[in-house]
Amino acid sequence: MFAVYAASPQPDNPLAALTVGDRPDPDVPDGWVRVSVKAASLNMHDLWTLRGVGIKAEKFPMVLGCDGAGVLDDGTEVVIHSVISSPDWSGDETLDPKRSLLTEVHQGTFAESVVVPARNVLPKPASLSFAEAACMGTAWLTAYRMLFVKSGLRPGQTILVQGASGGVATALIQLGRAAGFRVWATGRSEDKRALAESLGAHATFESGARLPERVDGVFETVGKATWSHSVKSLKPGGVIVVSGSTSGADANAELARVFFLQLSVIGSTMGTRDELADLLKYCDVTGVRPKIGNELPLTRAEEGFKAMLDGETAGKIVFTTP
Ligand SMILES: NC(=O)c1ccc[n+]([C@@H]2O[C@H](COP(=O)([O-])OP(=O)(O)OC[C@H]3O[C@@H](n4cnc5c(N)ncnc54)[C@H](OP(=O)(O)O)[C@@H]3O)[C@@H](O)[C@H]2O)c1
Repeated sequence: MFAVYAASPQPDNPLAALTVGDRPDPDVPDGWVRVSVKAASLNMHDLWTLRGVGIKAEKFPMVLGCDGAGVLDDGTEVVIHSVISSPDWSGDETLDPKRSLLTEVHQGTFAESVVVPARNVLPKPASLSFAEAACMGTAWLTAYRMLFVKSGLRPGQTILVQGASGGVATALIQLGRAAGFRVWATGRSEDKRALAESLGAHATFESGARLPERVDGVFETVGKATWSHSVKSLKPGGVIVVSGSTSGADANAELARVFFLQLSVIGSTMGTRDELADLLKYCDVTGVRPKIGNELPLTRAEEGFKAMLDGETAGKIVFTTP
């Protein structure tokens, strides 16, 4: 089958590992289902995979793509939940020590078809296109859990989203605005800040800029480049929810501020199957739809990867199959 895959890890030149070509059709183990992929979205995780981060060397070649939407052999339209937990695991799948994300152990979605455990597919709401549904499983699910499950914040409070144009950042802005938060965002360029405002941010600021007042919560995926600013932007008792560190994980922790102002730092990763079901319902009933900045046929996946590597995102990058 046609697929976009990582041939072997390339820590310093991830695009050199990107291969567009043929991979064997997958077998369908008992209890698993085949999804004919209609659309799949790109995540920073795919660039980490090309670099060999979070995946064992013996797992290459690996078809990329952590999330997607498509059709089962019986014609059911589905969205993929890409947290694969152990068969005997019950409860929050993200807490299973043996869990993996698609492309860490099992082949991913940038292909004509992908196989996943039957419990890892959910019905696609008819109101969402395949391209929109393909954004839900990773970036949007992560944002949903950060905001609604982990933060403990409530509508009316002020949140700061670090980053304006990324997949998780745009999801946080759109979900937060629709849920009644006062949403502020930082962006590295005027274009990116304008994008955040068009998606519902009430105010935007240059990265690192002093804010007019301190906020109740900060949402972090950038890491080293913004961490100090995140800590300094919080009211006493405020909360940072962190799910990524694109610019590096070795930030100054600002420990004195953390304890003196009694701040909470909460880690968050992906989300559960139930949370994905709730997110799909949320989008269905509110009409909120992911901002897709770039939709390309899977055959042109390299253009999307390059845009993400160069920081030229404007929401989600989605690949479609014919
Ligand atoms: N834990 C999880 O489950 C989980 C799930 C999804 C993603 N993540 C992580 O979250 C991060 C973002 O993923 P994504 O898919 O949203 O990536 P993305 O679409 O490429 O977005 C990157 C974001 O980072 C910001 N950024 C990057 N470098 C920056 C810098 N030096 N200074 C300020 N801002 C910077 C960008 O802000 P601008 O708009 O200003 O350019 C943009 O908002 C990645 O590290 C990813 O691994 C984790």
